[in-house]
Amino acid sequence: MKPSTQRQAFGLKILNAKHHAVRKLKAQGHQAEIHGNKFWNSSFLIMDHLKRHPPKQGLRVLDIGCGWGLLGLYCAKQFNARVTGIDADKNVGPYLQLHATTNQLAMSFETRSFDQLTKAYLANFDLIVGADICFWDELAHTVFKLIKRAHTAGVGQIIIADPCRTPFEVLVDKSERAFDQVERIDARLKRPVKATGDLLIVSQD
Ligand SMILES: C[S@@+](CC[C@H](N)C(=O)[O-])C[C@H]1O[C@@H](n2cnc3c(N)ncnc32)[C@H](O)[C@@H]1O
Repeated sequence: MKPSTQRQAFGLKILNAKHHAVRKLKAQGHQAEIHGNKFWNSSFLIMDHLKRHPPKQGLRVLDIGCGWGLLGLYCAKQFNARVTGIDADKNVGPYLQLHATTNQLAMSFETRSFDQLTKAYLANFDLIVGADICFWDELAHTVFKLIKRAHTAGVGQIIIADPCRTPFEVLVDKSERAFDQVERIDARLKRPVKATGDLLIVSQD
């Protein structure tokens, strides 16, 4: 039997690298350059958390370092959220659109880096999610500054998930010192894949 080129998880169809449509995009030259070459498991950890603690319907959600966009698409599907994904790598956009079409969902994509997200821009969102975006030392500071701007801009909640790499630990430490409502949650999944990591949640009323 041929191995499947797609799976179903959290109500979404997720295509893998062997799927003909994914291969076609690669052949057209859309090669992700900053690790956005696949869907990462930390996104599942945030989906699972949101399933247990559902946000209000219809929120404006920003998926930062969105890659293929499945976390944002999950928010669109389950919570009727109006979702934007940003990523510094323009090459991930076609993979996001492919998954949006495959799942019959809408999500917009913009090529922007974390540093380019101003307070005025961030003020347009109620919830910010980011999965596996803290993998280089300098990203701890970059993502911390972004959370600070978002907090000042009035964003209600920011959720970052990571398999606990060192820069993420630095980010948690800085956040615990800087903000009043900070949670760190140990997250584990057995299905659809075995995944472990932590969630950093910065909230305000
Ligand atoms: C490990 S992938 C995770 C992708 C997606 N969040 C997921 O869970 O599948 C990290 C993503 O962050 C993006 N990224 C890295 N540095 C960035 C930056 N400074 N600004 C915006 N996006 C960035 C990469 O292009 C990549 O798509």
